[in-house]
Amino acid sequence: MTDVLKVAVIGGDGTGPEVASEGLKVLHAVGKLENITIDATHFDIGGNRYLKTGKILTEEDIAQLSQFKSILLGAIGHPDVAPGILEKGILLALRFRFDQYINLRPVKLFPGVETPLKDKTPDDLDFVVIRENTEDMYAGVGGFMHKNTPHEVAIQTAIYTRKGCERWLRWSFEYTRKRNRRKKLTLVGKTNVLTYGHDLIWRTFQDVAKEYPDVEADYNHVDACCMWMVKNPEYYDVIATTNMFGDIITDMAGILQGGMGVAAGGNINPEPGGISMFEPMGGSAPKYTGKNVINPIATISAAAMLLEHAGYQKAADRVMKSIMTVTGTKMKSQSAGKMGYSTTEIGDLVCEML
Ligand code: IPM
Ligand code: MN
Repeated sequence: MTDVLKVAVIGGDGTGPEVASEGLKVLHAVGKLENITIDATHFDIGGNRYLKTGKILTEEDIAQLSQFKSILLGAIGHPDVAPGILEKGILLALRFRFDQYINLRPVKLFPGVETPLKDKTPDDLDFVVIRENTEDMYAGVGGFMHKNTPHEVAIQTAIYTRKGCERWLRWSFEYTRKRNRRKKLTLVGKTNVLTYGHDLIWRTFQDVAKEYPDVEADYNHVDACCMWMVKNPEYYDVIATTNMFGDIITDMAGILQGGMGVAAGGNINPEPGGISMFEPMGGSAPKYTGKNVINPIATISAAAMLLEHAGYQKAADRVMKSIMTVTGTKMKSQSAGKMGYSTTEIGDLVCEML
């Protein structure tokens, strides 16, 4: 008997479609070995459609995507569209509309991958960032007064709710327990300055921690976290942090693990029937578009996260193992154009290693 896994694929902009198609290639290959039929549907959403038709993310898109529980996303961002329009209109809109309140970003140094950190090995660099994905400064609350005058005032408000904090932190404790590595959850915030919002987060963290006596509840200010992450990344097991801080520290963490070509993430709605979306952390890299040189490893890892989230742990483990064989024994570098192979060849190699 074979299972059917329905996947919505949004290639998106720039190199997005190229990496998404390698992710999908690997899904099909591992599906064959594990008796999972991958039923993929492609969606034309992104900058090109916007420039042609003016459509960003329509209600019809939402209705159609709602037929899926798993979305594989390439990249959103087009050089001919002003910054913010597509990011807010598509990427953030999807995260918000599907209430994907967890942004899960594993930080793992794969074998053979170079880190800018001297003397650090795959053993030292293996932690996970759980970024809250629906609140904070990303809520889009604010406005202008006296715009374009010398008296202009702009307000951009960070929103934190008890419910939003609780569901994200409880999921983080659960995740830390299940990961079962060092059972340490570090909350990263700025309680010494953000004395309202981060006080709510801190109190919620203390309350939820009581339900998880087996997990160490640790805390770092975000500035200190940046320092420790570079100096002693082995300090971290799981980090829970706010949307904006999570955005910033995961770019830094991404470069520590070998760059944006390797860093993957999941936008997860953990509720029953929730729709989750998996993506490489890097952008659309317009200058490499169509050249078959971009690194698809991040997207292939995102595809593995998709499998794991859909309940196919064994298939996910197989993909991760193949990725590590390819980085460890084949690839020369994780940078676009320097891998020693093309984008499609890397996808083929991962399939072969399965
Ligand atoms: C990310 C990206 C997005 C974010 C942008 C493109 C809106 O940087 O996924 O980290 O800030 O969340
Ligand atoms: Mn980011």
